[in-house]
Amino acid sequence: MTPVALDKIEVRNVFKVFGSREKEVMTLLREGLKKEQVLAQTGCVVGVNDLSLSIRAGEVFVIMGLSGSGKSTLVRHLNRLIDPTSGQILVDGENILDYDMPALRQFRRHKISMVFQGFGLLPHRNVLENVAYGLKVRGESKGQCNERARHWISMVGLQGYEQAFVQQLSGGMRQRVGLARALATDTDIILMDEAFSALDPLIRAEMQDQLLELQRTLEKTIVFITHDLDEALRIGNRIAMLKDGQLIQVGTPQEILLSPADDYVERFVQRHRARLI
Ligand SMILES: Nc1ncnc2c1ncn2[C@@H]1O[C@H](COP(=O)(O)OP(=O)(O)OP(=O)(O)O)[C@@H](O)[C@H]1O
Ligand SMILES: [Mg+2]
Repeated sequence: MTPVALDKIEVRNVFKVFGSREKEVMTLLREGLKKEQVLAQTGCVVGVNDLSLSIRAGEVFVIMGLSGSGKSTLVRHLNRLIDPTSGQILVDGENILDYDMPALRQFRRHKISMVFQGFGLLPHRNVLENVAYGLKVRGESKGQCNERARHWISMVGLQGYEQAFVQQLSGGMRQRVGLARALATDTDIILMDEAFSALDPLIRAEMQDQLLELQRTLEKTIVFITHDLDEALRIGNRIAMLKDGQLIQVGTPQEILLSPADDYVERFVQRHRARLI
């Protein structure tokens, strides 16, 4: 019998309510009230609403949706920057919500890294120190930190900038530092929240190519948030479409393009088609 491959990440019926009346909101959501109705009735914001999905090992899983649809909120659950109001999150079959602080620290240092939307770099440190940071906090020797950091700095095309300070770099270069830092820790999973969105189109395309090139050998599990369907189609193995904290559709680029689940997804697809003409 062939063993059943475990999903790398499994999100099970996750709800996230922002506000003090969580219990009441959960009842309303289970009764089928929508995000706006909940807001009007309780003043609470629904970030994620009964969302379940699975992400396979080694895939680039893209999360799309309009601003405020819950993309960042969902992804922040995956490394427990936030905890759900209800639901389960499994990574390699383990419920990460059961982790205590030491287990969580271990998990964040060794299994999952994140490239933030606003880069999240240390402004008063140079490129080398920024890239080596994740290795340093997990106690690796200085020599090892520097060697690994230099390797990844050159892999993302920033060789020669090791001593430069973050403020001296362009947005695109900062983005590369963020990427190098995530790659240097050699975690199985990388979360990328609009990692390329601040870049101009040419550099953005270059970064997409670079990520795909690296992914060919690294085979990480990458969760990549974007607003841009072109980007999603280019780099994603599968794409999840979110609206008001709910999952509307998940599928391959082809499935999304050829059979959009509803008008909301169709609108993204139309914009893409319009740009091709
Ligand atoms: N800390 C918070 N407190 C209250 N509400 C929040 C908080 N974080 C997010 N929200 C709300 O949750 C919803 C989802 O926000 P989220 O940041 O996940 O959206 P997003 O899809 O990432 O949007 P964008 O594309 O603009 O980054 C929004 O309605 C937002 O107002
Ligand atoms: Mg966001």
